[in-house]
Amino acid sequence: MRIIAVINQKGGCGKTTVAVNLAAALGELEKKVLLVDMDPQSHASLSLDITGRVVDHTTYDLLRDPRVMVEDATCRYDDHLDVIPSSPVLGAVEQELAGKDARETRLASKLVRIEDRYDYVIIDSPPNVGLLTFNALMAAGEVVIPVDPSYFSLQGVGNLLETVELLENETKHRVTVSILVNNIEKRTNFSRDIVQELERLYGAELMEVTISHSVKYKVAALRGVPIFGIPRSDRLRWEFLTLARELEDRSSLIETADMGEWMEKLHGPRVASGRAIFSLDVPAAGSVYLTGEFNNWSRDGIRMEKDDDDGLWKIAVDLDPGEYEYRYIVDGVWIKDPRNVDSVLNEFGQENSLLIV
Ligand SMILES: Nc1ncnc2c1ncn2[C@@H]1O[C@H](COP(=O)(O)OP(=O)(O)O)[C@@H](O)[C@H]1O
Ligand SMILES: [Mg+2]
Repeated sequence: MRIIAVINQKGGCGKTTVAVNLAAALGELEKKVLLVDMDPQSHASLSLDITGRVVDHTTYDLLRDPRVMVEDATCRYDDHLDVIPSSPVLGAVEQELAGKDARETRLASKLVRIEDRYDYVIIDSPPNVGLLTFNALMAAGEVVIPVDPSYFSLQGVGNLLETVELLENETKHRVTVSILVNNIEKRTNFSRDIVQELERLYGAELMEVTISHSVKYKVAALRGVPIFGIPRSDRLRWEFLTLARELEDRSSLIETADMGEWMEKLHGPRVASGRAIFSLDVPAAGSVYLTGEFNNWSRDGIRMEKDDDDGLWKIAVDLDPGEYEYRYIVDGVWIKDPRNVDSVLNEFGQENSLLIV
């Protein structure tokens, strides 16, 4: 499963247009695709006319509620494309999660659980680099940055690449970057100059295909269909199919198979096929035990082993589906999981970490 985040802090450069039509193009190539709308403005959902349908949960619930899983928030668009719609309340998430642990990996922790149900997950993101965009970046193995041909856009790309690099250095989570020129009037000299400049600055990252300017994209969004639902748009369809194929040929730095590994480091515990892998980063500790509802809060706990490769204390536990409160016992001291944002208050007024399998 490849996860591609479409990001750019600049509004109106074509993130939503690219996310929606790329998702549809991959569907045309018989791929199974999930489109995740991470913008409170919900333009991607609106572009596919999703909001009119009955939707139980949105990306807001997915990020906020530990019990809401990807499948609870997914709407079927057609045989190839599923969508997780957004809602205006998503804008409140940044404040609601302020100061909480692991808030940047909330989306990743949900996507890592669906393993290989999709070939591609495409994430549309809002026009700023806040918590929502960070969640998209942390979940993604690759990013596509749409750039509209203007002088200010060139500057913006530089800033955005710096931000991505900063995040990579901080989290050790790497992404493959592709820059896509969108909304270009191919015949004008100005457009050619801008593309040349982008080539000079970001030759390796720049995608070969460019997306033309066409009013049909607005028409499609208004009708609630991708460009593939608009008559006489062969050239535009061809461009998006070419984009999809070009991305297919570009390899991703990470796929979900590897995602679990870095997730372990950032957001414990990891759940995969009925097993929970607990890990704790306390290299100096002499002993670490795990205790919780799965062992009736045994005072002894389950002994964890230190992994010599990465210095993390780990244990894998087989668990039936359900909710489990737990804590770690580090050198005799009971603590909550510092990397799990989900917790509940226990009868002593302390926080127990919460794991949902
Ligand atoms: N290639 C294009 N040709 C014509 N209009 C476009 C193109 N790409 C985007 N637009 C239009 O520009 C506006 C902003 O695009 P959008 O995809 O919503 O950008 P963002 O999500 O980055 O804010 C929309 O009205 C959209 O229809
Ligand atoms: Mg948008």
